Amino acid sequence: LTRDLILSFESSCDETSVAVIENGDTILSNIVATQIKSHQRFGGVVPEVASRHHIEQITGCIKDALKQAKVSYDDLTAVAVTYGPGLVGALLIGVTAAKAVAWAHHLPLIPVNHLAGHIYAAHLVEPIEFPAMALVVSGGHTELVYMPEENKFEIIGETRDDAAGEAYDKIGRVLGINYPAGKPVDEMAHRGHNTFDFPRAMDTDDNFDFSFSGLKSAFINTVHHADQIHEELNKADLAASFQQAVVDVLSDKTVRALHEYPVKQLILAGGVAANRGLRDRLTADMEQFPNTKLELVPLSLCGDNAAMIGAAGEMLYQHGVRADATLNADPGLEF
Ligand code: KG4
Ligand code: ZN
Repeated sequence: LTRDLILSFESSCDETSVAVIENGDTILSNIVATQIKSHQRFGGVVPEVASRHHIEQITGCIKDALKQAKVSYDDLTAVAVTYGPGLVGALLIGVTAAKAVAWAHHLPLIPVNHLAGHIYAAHLVEPIEFPAMALVVSGGHTELVYMPEENKFEIIGETRDDAAGEAYDKIGRVLGINYPAGKPVDEMAHRGHNTFDFPRAMDTDDNFDFSFSGLKSAFINTVHHADQIHEELNKADLAASFQQAVVDVLSDKTVRALHEYPVKQLILAGGVAANRGLRDRLTADMEQFPNTKLELVPLSLCGDNAAMIGAAGEMLYQHGVRADATLNADPGLEF
């Protein structure tokens, strides 16, 4: 029995991460160096700052990942790396490091789409069963992805403006919460009540697309208007009402998609998949689909990490996907 060992890289945004994955489903190590503190004083990710951090962190992450996994370069089967979508300068650090390792050690290089990575975080818990559907919700993406079979990804719906996580981060700022605001707003929401009637854009439209910029504006206008007339609004109720609106549209559209595309598995992935309200709601909604298994990516693997890239990398490796030394970062990469 051979064992595949993949060294994987993730540097698309503000986490530098390197992992070693065995046979596509076992995490031997998953080193994540976060830069959140450096970006917080700017209220969001500054691309130039991100690139500089990645270049400082990446060699240490490689060393730690190999050490923790108790493997050497000679044991590796292949190198996998996120090459898009994401911040070009950030992606380039991971791509360049992965290319250097692959070249120096004569290893195959596997290019991985960041969103496929988020979805394959589920594979680290249990093998993905096809056909499958994934709701990928993060700071940069809100997409419903239909997978008729392995290595086939069809985007059937996506946001027309802001991503769900982006909306959380922006309304969080108005509530005085530092970037990234998703988790604190989620916690705040659980202490409040749904008392503000915020819009649920496109909720009843006959498609699988999303829109969150109207909700974001409605939220900000409500808070600013209250400020002007010196009215004190309950922040927990604001957060709860916002979260209810987000969760309503995400779950309604997902349910609509599952009626049209019956699948064996629904995967909830991406940074916003850590949201308690969304996890609870989808769990309840899935009772009407007894033949579809719900796979909630574990909290530790929702945010950006290289383990998920290694899991997707192994699948692509099996499908013969390879890159050569000309591999470039592709910030707008689509499936
Ligand atoms: O996947 P991720 O780590 O990075 C991107 O690829 O974007 O997602 C980060 C996003 C941020 O916008 C953050 O506010 C959001 O995920 N997030 C949450 C929660 N935890 C993180 N949003 C809502 N509820 C949460 N519990
Ligand atoms: Zn991500």
